[in-house]
Amino acid sequence: MVKQNSMKKAFVKLASCLCLVASVTSATAGEKIDYTKMSSQQLAEHLIFNSDGFKLDKPVQEGGTARERLVQDELQKSCSVVGNATIPADTSVKVMTMARNSYRYPEGGIKLGDWKIGRELAWSGYGFRAGHKNDDHSTTKYGPGGNCYNCHQLATDRTGGSIGPALTGYGKARGTSDAILKYTYEVIYNPHAYFPCTHMPRIGAKKLLTEEQISHVMAYLFDPESPVNK
Ligand code: HEC
Repeated sequence: MVKQNSMKKAFVKLASCLCLVASVTSATAGEKIDYTKMSSQQLAEHLIFNSDGFKLDKPVQEGGTARERLVQDELQKSCSVVGNATIPADTSVKVMTMARNSYRYPEGGIKLGDWKIGRELAWSGYGFRAGHKNDDHSTTKYGPGGNCYNCHQLATDRTGGSIGPALTGYGKARGTSDAILKYTYEVIYNPHAYFPCTHMPRIGAKKLLTEEQISHVMAYLFDPESPVNK
């Protein structure tokens, strides 16, 4: 818990700092720059936000630009304001409601797909990298991927991260009732309904994985044949 809390603090600081910096420095764009008068922080900010070194104004995969990505949405803003403090009840309710409103379910109900594809998706941390050369997902077999291993231990044939809880033996321990399938789909789709201001990405709501891909990742979690349950 101690480790998670300090990571959380670092993440929140980074997120709020990036936004502040983006708005401050964009106002100075176009002015003549005297590097010798800059502090190291100012220089770093200039190089990132104004020198075009990071190609922040190039179009990105989901539409818009990388610079626009740094602008927080409502949910992120609500969570950043809280920072390191305990989340106030009204923020929790607001964030949980936003998450619930984002849910979309597959036509025909929540089903389990192919755990082998799910494994690839859980392993892949391709993501939506942008900058000098944007990732082109049309050329990758599994698109951006789910990046689950970055934060979770799942099967034991690969080391996983510890930002999130270990999910090893997930289906074996919890069974496959409609309630647990729905819960798991919703956590993957948008975890903030259960864990307001969590660090887990909104994987469905932000279209990192399609509904069908979520069914494959869920098979990886639930299928008795999946290495997660061996
Ligand atoms: C950036 C880190 C991160 C990534 C990436 C991530 N998660 Fe999570 N996940 C978390 C955290 C943290 C929690 C615990 C919620 C909390 O306390 O904030 C969690 C919780 C969960 C839970 C609920 C666990 C329980 O005990 O009920 C499931 C299921 C889950 N994640 C599945 C996934 C899957 C599947 C993926 C990939 C598609 C994924 N996660 C990607 C961080 C992450």
